[in-house]
Amino acid sequence: MLGRNILVGVSLLLLLLLLLDHSPGDRDEGGIHFGESGPLENIIQGKRTAVCLVGEARHLELTGPSIRKYVLETLKNSSVFINMPLDSNSYKMFVLDGGGGSYNFTSANIFSPQYIWETKVSRETLTAKKSPRALQGLLQYFALNEGCETMIRQQEELQGFKYDWIVRTRLDTFWTAPIPVEYRNSTYTVPRGTRYGGYNDRLGVGDRKTSRIALQRLSALPLIHSAGYRSENSESVYKAQLKVGNVKVAEDEFSFCVLSNRSFPYPPGRHGALVASIQGKGPLNGAYCRPCRPSESSSRSREMVERMVDAWIPSEAAEVEVCDGSGGWKAGWPEVFDAVAGEEAAALRKESDGMSKAECVSRLARFKDRWSSWKGPSTTLICELMDR
Ligand SMILES: *[C@@H]1O[C@H](CO)[C@@H](O)[C@H](O)[C@H]1NC(C)=O
Ligand SMILES: *[C@@H]1O[C@H](CO)[C@@H](O)[C@H](O)[C@H]1NC(C)=O
Ligand SMILES: *[C@@H]1O[C@H](CO)[C@@H](O)[C@H](O)[C@H]1NC(C)=O
Ligand SMILES: *[C@@H]1O[C@H](CO)[C@@H](O)[C@H](O)[C@H]1NC(C)=O
Repeated sequence: MLGRNILVGVSLLLLLLLLLDHSPGDRDEGGIHFGESGPLENIIQGKRTAVCLVGEARHLELTGPSIRKYVLETLKNSSVFINMPLDSNSYKMFVLDGGGGSYNFTSANIFSPQYIWETKVSRETLTAKKSPRALQGLLQYFALNEGCETMIRQQEELQGFKYDWIVRTRLDTFWTAPIPVEYRNSTYTVPRGTRYGGYNDRLGVGDRKTSRIALQRLSALPLIHSAGYRSENSESVYKAQLKVGNVKVAEDEFSFCVLSNRSFPYPPGRHGALVASIQGKGPLNGAYCRPCRPSESSSRSREMVERMVDAWIPSEAAEVEVCDGSGGWKAGWPEVFDAVAGEEAAALRKESDGMSKAECVSRLARFKDRWSSWKGPSTTLICELMDR
């Protein structure tokens, strides 16, 4: 802790204050500090709610239909925002089309990723040890999320009103039950589990004020750094950010997992990551998952879950089915997916796989017309990038 050493030289009192106040790098397991909270409020009845979806569209043909059904159609009357880097999968966003007016496609931003300068502050505050794309990957993820705040603010200025609530989650989330519709004002709600020493950062819901603080993941780094935090991972720096921003945090159960094509060592160490099958039951709270057949019995799966430190779903309600997450997806995954996701999602999967460039352009153009604001390349260019 370089920051502490400097402080020792300067003032022992300051050091003590720093340690008492912030305990940088503490890894209290399950130590979520629930603030005294107000009553639960319904965020759809008479409220203006924005839903911001971020990230790559890698498996959006698989996750999109579940996001539509369990997030967008559940949060009736919401305004949808998408912040997505442009790549060969971006065309898949058409699977989000639908909704018949129960929500509005408000603003889409499809951007070419730019290198983010790695400063002394970001190098010291963060560690990229477990990040698949090093420090740059973390910074890109933070920028992606902060983009929600920017997009929403721009839209608010244009419309002349502010949203009451903001729901942020990722485009690679696979949902199996509706998102809750009740949250506490002045509290930021994140999923239980997958904490890695901080807070789960795969979804967050809050009123306008707490969301603004929670979404500023990149611009808050200097503040977090000056509070003495060092070598934090994505989750622990998120916790630091909310603490420095003086935001109360609550955890809740959410029935989604992150559909990942990453390969994980198997069996995982106690601090590693388990991969769940999407066939499992109950809230997975953003754990990694795949369409796979479980490689363990349910009692063995439960044992493995309980052995993990700080990284998994403490929910008793979940019946987790653990898969071997090493290597690529196993043969037969489409059958597993179709059986779990249902006919409509299966049809969209096949449509997306077999789509010609001409079909893509017409399908995507129809979707683009539904957006109030669309920043990004033409639909023709997006379809040109398809791997065909
Ligand atoms: C949704 O919005 C419409 C029009 O803006 C309004 O009439 C309706 O009451 C809203 N529904 C809910 C559940 O808030
Ligand atoms: C969608 O936006 C239109 C105006 O752009 C508005 O009239 C309508 O009430 C909105 N619908 C919902 C569900 O918010
Ligand atoms: C939350 O509470 C504050 C303070 O009482 C109030 O100004 C704000 O409108 C509330 N927000 C929501 C979304 O209910
Ligand atoms: C997952 O990644 C591997 C290689 O990284 C690739 O061969 C495979 O096709 C991918 N699977 C899916 C479903 O995208």
